[in-house]
Amino acid sequence: MRMPLIAGNWKMNGSLALVDEFGQRCANVDMPPSVEVVVLPPAPYLAAAQAAFEKTALQVGAQTLNPEPGGAYTGEVSAAMLAEFGVGYVLVGHSERRSLYHEDDEAVSARARAALDAGLSPILCVGETLEERDAGDSEAVVLSQVKAVFDTLDARQRERMVIAYEPVWAIGTGRTATPEQAQAVHAAIRACLVDYDKGLATVLRLLYGGSMKRENAAELLAQPDIDGGLIGGASLKVDDFLAICQSAG
Ligand code: PGA
Repeated sequence: MRMPLIAGNWKMNGSLALVDEFGQRCANVDMPPSVEVVVLPPAPYLAAAQAAFEKTALQVGAQTLNPEPGGAYTGEVSAAMLAEFGVGYVLVGHSERRSLYHEDDEAVSARARAALDAGLSPILCVGETLEERDAGDSEAVVLSQVKAVFDTLDARQRERMVIAYEPVWAIGTGRTATPEQAQAVHAAIRACLVDYDKGLATVLRLLYGGSMKRENAAELLAQPDIDGGLIGGASLKVDDFLAICQSAG
């Protein structure tokens, strides 16, 4: 049985006040015990979030990392630094990192391996553009992004991965994939994982992301191969985020 994972990607949003609001509100809320919940604030808030979430079921995650262990990389954050702040999950390959910061499959793989080496679980984001979907290439694009990373990992590393399918055309657009569209791609990813190992395909969690909100979360999460969500905009409002967590339980 795969435990659902709900991850809130704040992107470059939020504040100390929002960190505190989440900490206070979530301390008084009964989260479904069968759901893992992670909030990914911007890096400067990691320490504050770790403290504010102490009495809650929320875990702290990170949005990106640099694959190098340390050195002259101005502005960057290493995997070991994230581990020091109790970060359990880190996004790699988010479409905004791929498009705005030119992180290609090789760069994404390097980040995944650095995270794994430091004891973190990478959440590998994959997804096609609208042009690629219209050309009928959704599955080919997504599977090649998965394989580009999974081919560089060993069996034990693969088991610690999470994959988030985020169609680029659905991110921040208000346009969500239908449950059927999302399920079809998730099923294709799971079938691809069988080629690595049957057990891996059974245990690995596949999240959906792209305009997931309280109104559509339940029907997406009800799909057999959707094991959670990566939430952007709706993760900035504590009520909306909590409602999505409840619908995963
Ligand atoms: P969205 O973002 O929920 O605002 O579409 C999702 C993401 O980019 O992870």
